[in-house]
Amino acid sequence: MTPLTLSVNIDHVATLRNARGGTHPDPLAAALAVLEAGADGITLHLREDRRHIRDHDVERIRAAIAAPLNFEMAATEEMVGIAERLRPADCCIVPEKRAELTTEGGLDVLRAGPFLAEAVQRLSAAGIRVSIFVEADPAQIQAAAALGAHAIELHTGTYADAAPEARAPHLARLREGAHAAAAAGLACHAGHGLSYETIGDIARIPEVSEVSIGHFLVGQAVFEGLPAAVRRMKALIAEARGG
Ligand code: PXP
Repeated sequence: MTPLTLSVNIDHVATLRNARGGTHPDPLAAALAVLEAGADGITLHLREDRRHIRDHDVERIRAAIAAPLNFEMAATEEMVGIAERLRPADCCIVPEKRAELTTEGGLDVLRAGPFLAEAVQRLSAAGIRVSIFVEADPAQIQAAAALGAHAIELHTGTYADAAPEARAPHLARLREGAHAAAAAGLACHAGHGLSYETIGDIARIPEVSEVSIGHFLVGQAVFEGLPAAVRRMKALIAEARGG
């Protein structure tokens, strides 16, 4: 099988820092630690309300790491402008609602306004690989391809949050979605809510080439440390991938 990379989302290191308003724990230090532990890239989401990652985090991390940076963002003029200036390797366009605790579902590409197409075009013109976070719905995936996206990221949250005995239909849908992405010529990423328990099924989907995992790893850091959690996740990915 093709390699499966792990991009670690460090948003919740910033959540913890912001709880006390100081500088510890530093998301840049966390990014360096997870890369040292074997992560393949770093994901961060600069939200409109700056509830976790702040502008200076993005600037510092962009300047300090050579590994691919995946900038998660809403399709807004402000975020496209920041991405055009900083030129991360990847941007993942997500829906964003102010009142949500976390990204609640995939972007509705079929009903998105014209700015989504402009965002994909401008980011691509800046040399950034663009992915769109979607549900495992072939129509949404084909719409992402029609906009010129390089990849889609499948929303794994519904699968991951389901009781173990209820996951099978969600997993089947994700497999179909991965297949539809490959058929549309798109790279297929996956993420949201993944843990040690759920990564295996996702990593065994051959078309999935990258997973983005954050909350579970930062939570697990409380018990075993962030580098150890990343190493264990990488080992589970390698095992599921047959290597
Ligand atoms: N992928 C996307 C598009 C997300 O919005 C998030 C959450 O920020 C993740 C992956 C990571 O999800 P989690 O923190 O639950 O691992």
